[in-house]
Amino acid sequence: MLVSSYSQMPDVLKQGAEAKIFTCDFQGRPCIVKERFPKGYRHPVLDRSLTNQRTKSEVRSMMRCRNSGILTPTVFFVDLESNKIYMQYFSNSSTVREHIIKVHSSTPDPIPALRPLAAKIGSTLGLMHSNNIIHGDLTTSNMLLDGDPDELSLVMIDFGLGYTESVAEDKGVDLYVLERALLSTHPNTEALFDVILQNYKKAYVGQGSVEVIRKLEEVRLRGRKRTMVG
Ligand SMILES: Nc1ncnc2c1ncn2[C@@H]1O[C@H](COP(=O)(O)OP(=O)(O)O)[C@@H](O)[C@H]1O
Ligand SMILES: [Mg+2]
Repeated sequence: MLVSSYSQMPDVLKQGAEAKIFTCDFQGRPCIVKERFPKGYRHPVLDRSLTNQRTKSEVRSMMRCRNSGILTPTVFFVDLESNKIYMQYFSNSSTVREHIIKVHSSTPDPIPALRPLAAKIGSTLGLMHSNNIIHGDLTTSNMLLDGDPDELSLVMIDFGLGYTESVAEDKGVDLYVLERALLSTHPNTEALFDVILQNYKKAYVGQGSVEVIRKLEEVRLRGRKRTMVG
């Protein structure tokens, strides 16, 4: 049923270290197939189990996000034999990374122009974390802007390292990963991370965000000490 639902030969959209992304047509709907392939350097049994885990984690976290009102691609089908996820293709989207780079190259004062986007990222993550969803790999390449970027239709993707956890430490580390990724990919964006945090706190349901930000500060300090020792 599934493979025959390709109406055309799939096109490779991206080829990463972990997975290949194909575009295709799934029963008339624009679809991407994310296929995790075997890693030659890992023991085959371990490799199979890890790959399977990531595929399952990705689907589970995406479902959880949707139930919490966070945009993620609709999952059409999962093939755990070949570790393929068939999901909604946002064909008219750009990654947040691409968008930030574009604004930096086309706007004399990019930070004010990017503030609404930073606010949207912060409120999305606040909602995600108050639902105890940890992303595990928060980068600007793992967020899409669907359609007109000004509409701020933010779609979260790439949940292979995602899991459910309520403790503040894991949420603090998630934010720290994003901070590092943001500042290394887009220099001089500290002000944007501040906007992300302000809106994270506002959107976080309950009092939990105070503890998360405290953990973030602790993780930053540990990171700094490691850099000084190294
Ligand atoms: N549903 C989607 N719609 C449009 N583009 C996507 C979608 N999913 C992934 N992409 C594109 O493919 C890239 C890699 O996908 P991702 O899930 O992040 O895999 P990887 O694990 O290789 O990073 C993304 O950065 C984005 O450019
Ligand atoms: Mg990715």
